[in-house]
Amino acid sequence: MILQRSRRCPLALLLVVLLAAIAGQTDGQKAANLNSNQPACGGKDKCSSCIQTESCAWCMQPGFKGQSRCFQANSNQCPEEFVYNPRTDVQILLNKNLTLASTGYAAGGGAAGYGGGAQISGGSSSFYQESSSSSSSSSSSMSGSYGSQYSAGMSASSADIVQIMPQSVKLQLRVNEKHNLKVSYSQAGGYPVDLYYLMDLSKSMEDDKENLSELGDKLSETMRSITSNFRLGFGSFVDKVLMPYVSTIKKNLNEPCEKCSAPYGYHNAMALSTDTYKFSQEVKSAKVSGNLDAPEGGFDAIMQAIACRQQIGWREQARRLLVFSTDAGFHYAGDGKLGGVIAPNDGECHLSPLGDYTHSTEQDYPSISQINQKVKDNAINIIFAVTASQYSVYQKLVGQIQGSSAAILSSDSSNVVDLVREEYAKISSSVEMKDNATGDVKITYFSSCVHGPEMQTSKCDNLTVGQQVSFTAQIQVLKCPEDPRDWTQTINISPVGINETMQIQLEMLCACPCEKPGSIGYQEHSKSCSEHGTSMCGICNCDENHFGNICECSAMDVTLKNGNDASCRADNNSTTDCSGRGNCVCGACECFKRSNPEEVISGPLCECDNFSCERNKNQLCSGPDHGTCDCGRCICKPGWTGSSCACQASNDTCMPPGGGEICSGHGTCECGVCKCTVNEQGRFSGRHCEKCPTCSGRCQELKDCVQCQMYKTGVLKNGDDCARNCTAFVPVGVEKVEVDEHKDEQMCTFFDEDDCKFMFKYSEQGELIVHAQEEKECPPKVFMLGIVLGVIAAIVLVGLAILLLWKLLTTIHDRREFARFEKERMNAKWDTGENPIYKQATSTFKNPMYAGK
Ligand SMILES: *[C@@H]1O[C@H](CO)[C@@H](O)[C@H](O)[C@H]1NC(C)=O
Ligand SMILES: *[C@@H]1O[C@H](CO)[C@@H](O)[C@H](O)[C@H]1NC(C)=O
Ligand SMILES: *[C@@H]1O[C@H](CO)[C@@H](O)[C@H](O)[C@H]1NC(C)=O
Ligand SMILES: *[C@@H]1O[C@H](CO)[C@@H](O)[C@H](O)[C@H]1NC(C)=O
Ligand SMILES: *[C@@H]1O[C@H](CO)[C@@H](O)[C@H](O)[C@H]1NC(C)=O
Ligand SMILES: *[C@@H]1O[C@H](CO)[C@@H](O)[C@H](O)[C@H]1NC(C)=O
Ligand SMILES: *[C@@H]1O[C@H](CO)[C@@H](O)[C@H](O)[C@H]1NC(C)=O
Ligand SMILES: *[C@@H]1O[C@H](CO)[C@@H](O)[C@H](O)[C@H]1NC(C)=O
Ligand SMILES: *[C@@H]1O[C@H](CO)[C@@H](O)[C@H](O)[C@H]1NC(C)=O
Ligand SMILES: *[C@@H]1O[C@H](CO)[C@@H](O)[C@H](O)[C@H]1NC(C)=O
Repeated sequence: MILQRSRRCPLALLLVVLLAAIAGQTDGQKAANLNSNQPACGGKDKCSSCIQTESCAWCMQPGFKGQSRCFQANSNQCPEEFVYNPRTDVQILLNKNLTLASTGYAAGGGAAGYGGGAQISGGSSSFYQESSSSSSSSSSSMSGSYGSQYSAGMSASSADIVQIMPQSVKLQLRVNEKHNLKVSYSQAGGYPVDLYYLMDLSKSMEDDKENLSELGDKLSETMRSITSNFRLGFGSFVDKVLMPYVSTIKKNLNEPCEKCSAPYGYHNAMALSTDTYKFSQEVKSAKVSGNLDAPEGGFDAIMQAIACRQQIGWREQARRLLVFSTDAGFHYAGDGKLGGVIAPNDGECHLSPLGDYTHSTEQDYPSISQINQKVKDNAINIIFAVTASQYSVYQKLVGQIQGSSAAILSSDSSNVVDLVREEYAKISSSVEMKDNATGDVKITYFSSCVHGPEMQTSKCDNLTVGQQVSFTAQIQVLKCPEDPRDWTQTINISPVGINETMQIQLEMLCACPCEKPGSIGYQEHSKSCSEHGTSMCGICNCDENHFGNICECSAMDVTLKNGNDASCRADNNSTTDCSGRGNCVCGACECFKRSNPEEVISGPLCECDNFSCERNKNQLCSGPDHGTCDCGRCICKPGWTGSSCACQASNDTCMPPGGGEICSGHGTCECGVCKCTVNEQGRFSGRHCEKCPTCSGRCQELKDCVQCQMYKTGVLKNGDDCARNCTAFVPVGVEKVEVDEHKDEQMCTFFDEDDCKFMFKYSEQGELIVHAQEEKECPPKVFMLGIVLGVIAAIVLVGLAILLLWKLLTTIHDRREFARFEKERMNAKWDTGENPIYKQATSTFKNPMYAGK
């Protein structure tokens, strides 16, 4: 059946076979690829370095007999109970649910504290009254007071808000393995907002100040419509009171400009509070001042406003906004030198109890990166509200400071409310994940954000309150840090600008417990190590007087070269003991025995043997008569040479017969055989390199003598030229000349002056022997006269024939004509007398005038 079918459609069968072959091949390739991708476990000789290699496991079995203790985890090379193969493990320690959008207000219950504040609109106040009943009992103790006590109370309540989940995770991770952790974020409704307004109060900002004090209420109202839990603070700055920033003429020091107050560095006018009335008052009462140069000391102010957490009153759980408004540039680190200030900024808080910056003239301005670091540490969002002329400068600054943004402030600051609202919306509608993983730990974020496709990003935009976004944090330990103290570390993942973190307690699986005292695999004076060493993860760590795999060798007994393994190895690079052909026993090689007693491995590193020499005709060193094998090389007996002793040492066989140079001088004698050389005429050949492809041989030379001796013709036929000139040989006559290839015979063929072909051959074995054909081969004689006569005769004959033919034809023709004539004559109906052509010889004419008389 099958046979029949296959015969019927062999093509289909072929196709199937072909496809199967291709499939098999690709499978094979895949397998090969897989193998090549897998790291080599084999070379690892310590447990810790083994498990630091991806997908390798360690075998702790004492007296392990396999290839390598470090092996591919999925191959069964070791009894289950001895395998140490730590796995990536994740444990979620704290996983509080995200605060839902609506419950955000309730969680912000601490805001009830500002129920006592004066500036709350009726609607929202009643809402707070309601929620305060459910809030913590601490609310009573904080009513009315806005000190540090208040802020502590606020943080306690707002700590209930959860915007990131999970909060704490314990992760055990192998090197190079990737682990995906899911992080969820959702913006809680009514999340607390702290807004600190930092204002440049140089003279040019005077009108802005007026507007701002009026806008204070509106600002707080607007923010309150976004979040119920809102606090406002105010501070101002001018510049360092030093030349050249500020005029230090005595008069100007007190009143740099008309109705101006004395210049100052930075002044915290109002700590964060819900009291917007106070905000307006403070802004109004703040006096403008004057300075000399265009850039201002805003960086000093930013640094203090961030560093002085207590004095400013930043809450722990709140979105922190720092609105920085100015119409000028800024001084930064290094500019202090102009005023003689060289001490660098220390990033600490230096505020007097009255809120003045005390180190203004002692420390330099902070650098941009110092500001950025502080901003990152404190999760603050800076909004640079600057006039249009400065916008491009601050736009660049934004790129350097995390979570900051810049916006254009109208010249009288009238748009500040819109601006803050917009920037807040921008900040709060986006979330960016950051972490403090360093060096060897790599975290990559993936998210599909709101609806999009999953991609690598740590930032999502256009979020609304309560909308949950998930990030996948892919954590990977690239390599184990050198300091074992870094093997456990805490990494925080948090959204930029929000003081909530997901804490990852990362434990890198870099070490094996069995390498440390006190664990199961660690045993001092272990029996498996001959009681001379410590068994660690199955490996013996011998004391100083012993060595060997199980510490079986005593250093006293053996004269050591470089320790146990080294003395059994050729150099530091080789990885096998005793060239792989012996066992290293206490520092000396014991070479393996062969099944054939004739074959012996020898040498201190078992590097020699007497059976792996070159063979000739399957005989080791061409047989015992020619040579013997010694450590891979043939030692030849006298009279023999060559790598396999196959060659005779003498050159006799290369001598041409009859003496002469070796190989006729056209070659060298190698192993008793001529190796002919090549010259411009070509390669010499023949047993003794006597033949030359373009040389004509001796044919021409011998020709004349052969001719005269054999046929008595040629140039030497006259007189006794032949006898005189041809003495070297006497040709032997043969019937037919045939060349025997094996006898080195040369064939010569010539045509003589009679066009007769004659052949002879010669050979030079010792003496010159010539055999010549007895009879020349001449072409038959031709009679030229006959041919000529023949031709003439033929021409005559042909002419005659043509004449005869012509005669015949004309005769026939004539006869036919005559016959026709006859016929026509017969047919004529007239007599001879009536010949129509006949005319009477006489003519008669009548004269009409003659009337018959
Ligand atoms: C968290 O939310 C899940 C489902 O949304 C709910 O089953 C679980 O009870 C919640 N846990 C707490 C502690 O509220
Ligand atoms: C963030 O909140 C924690 C308590 O939840 C607090 O200890 C820490 O100081 C806060 N960090 C900042 C920068 O406010
Ligand atoms: C801001 O002040 C200018 C005059 O300085 C005034 O014309 C403008 O109406 C004020 N804007 C607001 C919003 O009060
Ligand atoms: C956010 O929404 C605005 C308008 O709704 C749109 O123009 C913008 O492209 C969105 N951004 C992202 C990142 O989706
Ligand atoms: C990350 O930050 C946390 C909290 O500030 C700190 O305990 C931890 O050591 C930091 N981790 C790294 C790797 O710096
Ligand atoms: C090999 O080891 C010896 C002794 O341990 C050392 O002196 C030598 O420099 C090493 N050579 C190489 C190439 O590593
Ligand atoms: C050992 O290996 C290194 C690098 O592969 C090489 O430079 C060195 O010459 C080797 N030493 C010996 C003795 O072969
Ligand atoms: C190898 O050496 C051994 C001992 O020297 C000897 O008995 C044996 O015949 C040798 N074998 C050969 C093939 O030379
Ligand atoms: C054989 O000839 C070679 C050159 O072809 C020469 O080097 C060698 O010495 C000769 N050997 C003897 C034994 O004459
Ligand atoms: C024959 O030999 C003589 C001298 O040996 C020489 O002069 C003569 O040229 C030779 N003849 C030919 C035809 O080679």
